[in-house]
Amino acid sequence: MLILGMLRQVVSGTMQSRASSCWKAALPLRFLGHSPQQIPADASFYSTSASEAEPPRVLITGGLGQLGVGLAGLLRKRFGRDSVILSDIRKPPAHVFCSGPFIYADILDYKKLHEIVVNHRITWLFHYSALLSAVGEANVPLAKAVNITGLHNILEVAAKYNVRLFVPSTIGAFGPTSPRNHTPDFSIQRPRTIYGVSKVHAELMGEYYYHRYGLDFRCLRYPGIISADSQPGGGTTDYAVQIFHAAVKNNRFECNLKASTRLPMMYIDDCLRATLEVMEAPSECLSIRTYNISAVSFTPEELAQVLCKYVPEFQITYRVDPLRQAIADSWPMSLDDSTARKDWGWKHDFDLPGLVRTMLSFQGFSTRVAHAN
Ligand SMILES: NC(=O)c1ccc[n+]([C@@H]2O[C@H](COP(=O)([O-])OP(=O)(O)OC[C@H]3O[C@@H](n4cnc5c(N)ncnc54)[C@H](O)[C@@H]3O)[C@@H](O)[C@H]2O)c1
Repeated sequence: MLILGMLRQVVSGTMQSRASSCWKAALPLRFLGHSPQQIPADASFYSTSASEAEPPRVLITGGLGQLGVGLAGLLRKRFGRDSVILSDIRKPPAHVFCSGPFIYADILDYKKLHEIVVNHRITWLFHYSALLSAVGEANVPLAKAVNITGLHNILEVAAKYNVRLFVPSTIGAFGPTSPRNHTPDFSIQRPRTIYGVSKVHAELMGEYYYHRYGLDFRCLRYPGIISADSQPGGGTTDYAVQIFHAAVKNNRFECNLKASTRLPMMYIDDCLRATLEVMEAPSECLSIRTYNISAVSFTPEELAQVLCKYVPEFQITYRVDPLRQAIADSWPMSLDDSTARKDWGWKHDFDLPGLVRTMLSFQGFSTRVAHAN
């Protein structure tokens, strides 16, 4: 009890200095132990609704991609292993299968989605299934099916069973006519990829269901996400992950974007924590339902310069892929995420040097990183 009391004091002091008054009731994730049993009984972590005193029962769709396994790990630490079901249409590797509940779920199978939500009493749904920007352009009919028809299925099921729904959007939801620097939450959105068009559609449909049917829809526009232990799924920012693998393997990397291409990026831990924080935020704190979130913005050249500090022999060359370059040139260079910071206390932890150090230590570069320090 003493420890809990001290924790509450630390937390309340920190939250008063950091976030809006609305958010004071909830603990930020970084202050919490990982076991649900450690959470004080009177805290309103999971929801503003009294009916949700129990931990949520979570379903993650498209969970075997770059982000889903990490999200499942974070949520299982928070809510318990069996409260979080990972799903996909691919066969999971053994370590993923053994780490918690996994089921096959095709988001195009509408009836099966109902069955899953009902049979597992799902209360929170993280909808990660998608075809990303470069892959989507290579197969537009499939991108339309997965990103648009699949989303419709998810919205219907979530609305019918009163499920809190998270759908990630992207910087790709902006286009060449959007402001490219500090792009605000609300600005012109005329993307020219099927991925971007489908994500604008998802933002608007989710908000429509929120206003029309009361669906508890929450959405973050992710920047390019950088992760060490999962591979990117065919997006325009993939180079920023591949560069680390190449640096470790053979000290060189051929980049498919121009040296000067500036894009917003984020380390995966920040992205997943933001996702959980916005899902836990009391409804009344959310002044909007689709938020920009931002951490760092850099070019391939700037990333290579920081990498060279730790891997001095590293060399980058450029062979530009016109498709990816055209997409990147139509996206924001940086995002204005001040509304997320104000409404629910969003704050990134990883700057560029921190991100590079963390990525290299994951890749087995700990000795050289320590040496460079
Ligand atoms: N990774 C990033 O940098 C990034 C940036 C912005 C937004 N996002 C968004 O975050 C989400 C997750 O991204 P990710 O990088 O993990 O994607 P990913 O491409 O790595 O994984 C997507 C998963 O969806 C699954 N899938 C495809 N068709 C499906 C279907 N019919 N039914 C069920 N699952 C299906 C795939 O098998 C795959 O495992 C996506 O919605 C993406 O748009 C990601």
